[in-house]
Amino acid sequence: MRLLKTTHNTDFLIENVGQTVTLAGWVQKKRNLGGLIFLDLRDRSGLIQLVIRPENENYSLAETLKNEYVIEVTGKIVERESKNKNLITGDIEVEVETLHILNQASDTPFEIKDDTTALEDTRLKYRYLDLRRDTLKNKIITRSKLMQIVRNYLTEQDFIEIETPVLGKSTPEGARDYLVPSRVNKGSFYALPQSPQLYKQLLMIAGFERYFQIAKCFRDEDLRADRQPEFTQIDLEMSFVDENDVMSMTEKMIAKIWKEIKHVDIPLPLPRLTWDVAMNLYGSDKPDLRFDMPIQDITSVFTNTTFGVFQKVLEKHGIINCLVVKDAASKYSRKDLDHLTEFVKTYGATGLAFLKYTEGTLQGSIAKVISDEEKEGLQEQLSLTENDLILIVADCFKVAKVSLGELRKKLGSELGLIDSSKDAILWITDFPLFEYSETEGRYMAMHHPFTAPKEDSIDLLLTEKDKCYAKAYDIVINGYEAGGGSIRIHQEDVQEKMFEALGFSKERAKEQFGFFLEAFQYGTPPHGGLALGLDRLTMLLTDTTNIRDVIAFPKTASASDLMTEAPSAVEKEQLDELAITVK
Ligand code: AMO
Repeated sequence: MRLLKTTHNTDFLIENVGQTVTLAGWVQKKRNLGGLIFLDLRDRSGLIQLVIRPENENYSLAETLKNEYVIEVTGKIVERESKNKNLITGDIEVEVETLHILNQASDTPFEIKDDTTALEDTRLKYRYLDLRRDTLKNKIITRSKLMQIVRNYLTEQDFIEIETPVLGKSTPEGARDYLVPSRVNKGSFYALPQSPQLYKQLLMIAGFERYFQIAKCFRDEDLRADRQPEFTQIDLEMSFVDENDVMSMTEKMIAKIWKEIKHVDIPLPLPRLTWDVAMNLYGSDKPDLRFDMPIQDITSVFTNTTFGVFQKVLEKHGIINCLVVKDAASKYSRKDLDHLTEFVKTYGATGLAFLKYTEGTLQGSIAKVISDEEKEGLQEQLSLTENDLILIVADCFKVAKVSLGELRKKLGSELGLIDSSKDAILWITDFPLFEYSETEGRYMAMHHPFTAPKEDSIDLLLTEKDKCYAKAYDIVINGYEAGGGSIRIHQEDVQEKMFEALGFSKERAKEQFGFFLEAFQYGTPPHGGLALGLDRLTMLLTDTTNIRDVIAFPKTASASDLMTEAPSAVEKEQLDELAITVK
């Protein structure tokens, strides 16, 4: 038996015929064909076929093999009679000479194969078995490659990798904190970092100039297909920079990643859209630009409308916007359109009007209530062609844009408009500094409270919050927010004004961020940075829409780990030690 495995199954190809090799791995499959035993041996790299002849002294041992047994074999590589084009090693097989069973295996709860039908819950419970499947394993391997590329690139660019604490103080990224009780300081809690935001800024004050970290972040928020409670950021911060410097550094890294992993050239600089333009055209700050179909503003066509619904919206300074779905009128029945109406209602729209352009005329839900002049106006502005479908929302700005933006996404995938052979990567810039929260009844920081306002917004911080813009940028890939960052406030007085604008009293700001504000007194360089979602980047690089696929041991939608059964109850003694009583 050889202990150190130095080869991979897929190292061996037709040019290795005649060599004697030692291989180790798992039995993927065993077949007995006319007395010959064929085994598919699996290792991390893939499969190779083994053959054992009846005259081999190990034949009876081979007969006892079952799926997932761990074995080691020595044998000679020979050319196969019937080749398998689907396997890297499909031209060859190994004539087994010696066979050792290194370990037996019980029947697995599901078969280890790529096209599994096992339920995800079962697969999560036995994650270590699920990870044996190539599709999943390869995503984790891509994740590792991605981390290597990032480390190499940033190190070459003079960044220093620094770890920051996991047990720390709450960071204001907008989600709920995970808290860890302190035994030594009873009644006090650490917060797990939602991001290393405060620490990385302190590292700039400390003079490191360029920092990066592949950082674990924790956010107790509602989970979605692209969110986990525990996720990883490629976090970076730079001193003496402006927005363009951070964006340029980041997009070069993205291009390098795409080149090395996907073997495609991403033309640089990446396109940029301001937040205002993105909202206007796509109703989203993370538009999927793999297809076009922008939102069009047709308010001016209806300035003098007699149609009551539109009139009411215009009286309240609302807007009338639409999507033109090219050549789709005949594809949508009345019932389909009712479904689309229900869909936009979930985003707050009161309804969805439609018009179909056929044989030079407009027909549909509002055809009878709008004037000929308005119809002509639409034809002209929208450059309609035969069989176009127009979907209209009249509402306040936000509802009209967001509901049509969501509808655009839905239609894009429903009608197969997305060109999935290409990735659409762009920057969204010039975000609003504040965002009004209906639930909180106050303005909140759209990014976080340390984001620098644009120069001409500084004077408006306390008076005209909805006219303030930020030196903030997000990188968007195929409709995902892959990362985001900003230039930070580096002057103490501006930071104080910002806290005031956010409704923090001086005392509260001091209580929560006193150490941070104090640090700004001692010579803070201008600085800025960004964080990329490592999990989301891996999703984009491996063509999956499920974030669990790119995390070795992920959590379910209810934030639990089905394998270890975390979170779980703890012993009463442990709680007593922490002076905690569970209600
Ligand atoms: P932000 O909150 O935008 O910025 O996070 C940066 C990126 O992290 C990813 N991300 C997530 N991925 C998986 N699950 C989650 N729950 C989750 N939340 C965020 C996204 C996102 O774009 N400190 C700032 C960065 C900075 O300003 O430098 C920050 O954390 O891809």
